[in-house]
Order: sequence, then C-alpha cells, then structure tokens
Amino acid sequence: MELEKKKSISSFAEKQVTVHAPGTVANLVCGFDVLGMCLEEPYDVMQVRLLDEKKITIISKDGYQLPSDPALNTAGAPLIEMLDEIENNIGFEVTIQKNIKPGSGIGSSAASAAGAVVGANYLLGNIFSKEDLVRFAMFGEKVASGVKHADNIAPCIYGSITLIRSIFPLDIISIPAPDFYVTLVHPQIEVRTSDARQILRKEVQLKDAIKQWGNIAGLVAGLLQKDLALVGRSLEDVIIEPVRSILIPGFDEVKSKCKSAGALGGGISGSGPSIFMLSADKATAQHVENVMKEVFEKIGISYHTYVTTISKTGVQIIKE
Ligand code: HSE
Repeated sequence: MELEKKKSISSFAEKQVTVHAPGTVANLVCGFDVLGMCLEEPYDVMQVRLLDEKKITIISKDGYQLPSDPALNTAGAPLIEMLDEIENNIGFEVTIQKNIKPGSGIGSSAASAAGAVVGANYLLGNIFSKEDLVRFAMFGEKVASGVKHADNIAPCIYGSITLIRSIFPLDIISIPAPDFYVTLVHPQIEVRTSDARQILRKEVQLKDAIKQWGNIAGLVAGLLQKDLALVGRSLEDVIIEPVRSILIPGFDEVKSKCKSAGALGGGISGSGPSIFMLSADKATAQHVENVMKEVFEKIGISYHTYVTTISKTGVQIIKE
C-alpha cells in the first residue's frame, strides 16, 4: 500500500478491550465457501491491548499450542496486515482463551482472526469498515488452511448469516437470520481444513452443479421468506458432503435420525468433523441433541454437544 493511503490516528480512546469471538458454521451445507452463520455459543474470550511500538505479541491461555509467531498465528497475521495500513508507531498484544477447539469445524481460526481485528479496530476508534476487517482477517484463514475464504470470517464479524458473493473483490451480503435453534455435535477427532480441502474433486458434473445452485438459491430465498420447508429441502449438498462425510464416523446415521427427530436439516459444519442441525424450536433442538449423543455413545467416540441460537451481532466488545 502507498504511504499516502495509510491511516493516521490522532488519539486512542482506550488501551485495552475484551472481546467475545463466536463460533460459526461455514458452508451451510450447500454453500461451500459462500455461506456462513454465526453462533451465540461457543465463543473465544480475547483481550487486545495497544502497544507503543510496531509489533504484535500473541499470548495463548489454553493448551492448544498454537504458534506464537504472529505471522503464523491466525490472530497475528491479520493484525500484521492491519498495521501495514496504519502510519502510527503502534502494535497490539493479543491474549486468547480458546473455547472453540482448533480443527472442530466450528470456525476456531476465524474466531481468533475476527476477534483480533474487531478488538484492534475498536481501540483505533473504528477507523476500518467491516469489509476492511474481513479483508484483514482472511489472512488468518490463509495461515490456517492455505487459502483465503470468508465464510466463517464474514458471519463472525457481521453476525447472522452472510453470503460471500465474491472475495476478489469482496462482496458480502447480510441475510437476516430467522430465530432458528442450532444443535451441534463435535466428535473428538480432528479434521484439518487443509486436508478436507485437499480431498475434494477439482471438477464437478453439470447436473450436480445445477442441483447445487438450485439449493443455494432455494436456501437464501427460504431464509429471506422465513419458509422453513424451503430451507429444509434446500439443505442438501451433492458436491462436497459425499466426499467429506467419509471422514466423519456416524455421519449418515446422525443426519437421517436427526431429521426423523424433527430437525429442518443440516450437515457438516465447515470442514468437519462437527455436524450441525437447524430446528424451529428449542424442544426439537434438545431432542436432536439426544439423538446425536445416542449415535456417538453407540459408536464409542467421545463428543461434545451444543444447543444454541444464531448470533445476530457477531464479535462482541465487552464493557468491563
Ligand atoms: N468453506 C471452508 C471449507 C470452511 O469448507 O473448507 C472451513 O471452515
């Protein structure tokens, strides 16, 4: 970036802020890399502190042994990009308490990236737009999975459900979220997003593409019209799920039993191994949770479940 385009900040309101950076469900079944949804829970807790020298420091308060080198850390890499567009001689220290396990498919890397840039921007007086923040945060996804994608980052920053029509140039459309309940099961196995992307076929058949874009359009229309039946029948993925579901023991059984239990539909959360289901009411979402538990008890894989709702706010600044 040219020097004259760099931003200069004359005064800083605060020196430190705490943020809650929530989990997200990318893809929303049929919308690989283009649709994502923000969750109320789980969320990471992060502190972002202003430093008076141009450096980034990462402090992890969990046992995940994530890289502390900012260039290799999903919170650090976006902040390096942000600092590159600021004239002032400042930096940030980021302390991260991860509650979203890395490799869970619930947007762990995106939460770190989005939380860091939203917190830092707050300290700078919100000089950057949400679109700028997504642009910076995508560098965290590149660190995590080798490619820039915004289907976790954008809903984490904007809240609700987002459609990423394009990332080059960025074109993000917010879709108001219906009051759905979300049930997730996280079998305690790790699927790396980079591996889950590696196994995908590079070409698709026209008949599958037609079905897929019919479903994406149907899902978006169903969400906007609050047509639950249309949402349910559009939650179908004929391209990615047939390949990736083989990495998740019990996937087909969970999906069919949850739908029989009343879920509108669902599928792999992000690149897995978590599986999510949408329900119209809390009682159904809790019933679906029990079904998920029964399947993983039977298979003998330990798991963690969540019953939550769609966050309308995304990353939250916490007033202390
Ligand atoms: N769209 C990405 C993928 C999300 O499915 O690879 C990863 O969380």
